[in-house]
Amino acid sequence: MFRIGSVEIAHPFTLAALSGHSDAPMRRLCRRHGAAYAVNEVVLDRCVTHEGAWQKRLLAVPADDHPIGGQLMGSDPADFGPAADRLVRLGYDVIDINFGCPVEKVLKRCRGGYLLGEPQTALAIVRAVLAAVGGRAPVTVKLRRGLDDSAESRRRFDRVLDGALEAGVAAVTLHARTVAQRYTGAADWRFLAEMRRRVGPRTLIGSGDLLTAEACLAMLRETGVDGVAIARGAIGNPWIFAACRALADGRPAPPPPSLAEQRAALAAQLAGLLELYRGRPPVRMLWRSGLSYSRWHPTPKKVRAAIVAVRSPFEFERMLDEWYGPAHTGEARADAADGDKPKVNVRSPNIRPGASFSVG
Ligand SMILES: Cc1cc2nc3c(=O)[nH]c(=O)nc-3n(C[C@H](O)[C@H](O)[C@H](O)COP(=O)(O)O)c2cc1C
Repeated sequence: MFRIGSVEIAHPFTLAALSGHSDAPMRRLCRRHGAAYAVNEVVLDRCVTHEGAWQKRLLAVPADDHPIGGQLMGSDPADFGPAADRLVRLGYDVIDINFGCPVEKVLKRCRGGYLLGEPQTALAIVRAVLAAVGGRAPVTVKLRRGLDDSAESRRRFDRVLDGALEAGVAAVTLHARTVAQRYTGAADWRFLAEMRRRVGPRTLIGSGDLLTAEACLAMLRETGVDGVAIARGAIGNPWIFAACRALADGRPAPPPPSLAEQRAALAAQLAGLLELYRGRPPVRMLWRSGLSYSRWHPTPKKVRAAIVAVRSPFEFERMLDEWYGPAHTGEARADAADGDKPKVNVRSPNIRPGASFSVG
């Protein structure tokens, strides 16, 4: 167990904020498989205060989706207070501020990772959020380890980190890559260990290169972080949480998901998308869900072709019946004739970094 301020998190294995992925359907699925905490995908401060019905639905927190963090991104401290207040009123348990996003169009608008180079503005944002939340929920920050590897970047990172801790943030989630690295190169876990000592009694959640359950356990062991934020490792792989918990308890990791388990996860994603989008999920969301699980299928290439041919929820269900078997049977087309080897290793998911990082 660890804490983010007043919020208790049952164990260290949490779902990271993932733009285009960590929506209510994915969060609930990951929780069902053992995630202790989840962060909604990043949202722009101005979108949160816009009262449209659509925003309301995307930001709504289902009753079985706690504890949950709501993550804000923007550039003007004045916009953050009202947005943070709204997230608290919507039922978010933790308010997180994004100072890490490396996407070009986000940086150009002086948001996300850009603010690691602007400590004064970043800290004004932190203070604005803390003042608006007024102790109703813990406030946290998501950082990268700097803009780049220069000494100046490190000085600015230190000012942001120390200033945020001094102002009163309850926890820091640290992605141990620089903004310049985006998603390439290794995350620097030694930096996480160093920051663990710096953050003192406050909570530190580690992020970076957590693609397998073994990696999650190794990060906890090697760096001393309180929790891990599983990101790419959880896309199309809610089972990673059960594997983490098994390894942490000294049990062997469960076997790779059977076809029936894959079907159940995909059906749950579909049901979640139907609920979220009132029966009309965008086709690209169906494709994204389907494709993210396809690596587990015995004939991944063929199933991918079937997924991108889908045009409606009805066709998605038909695809499930054909390729994953009717509900509860797990019998399906599994002729390995397309030359694809079944991918049965929970340890090496093959997700293209940042492939759908579309916010901002
Ligand atoms: C598709 C994608 C979307 C992401 N969206 C967010 C986001 O909305 N907010 C955030 O703080 N980080 C976001 N991240 C960063 C992750 O939370 C995480 O810090 C990063 O992927 C490093 O972890 P990993 O190497 O284990 O994937 C995103 C990463 C990916 C790949």
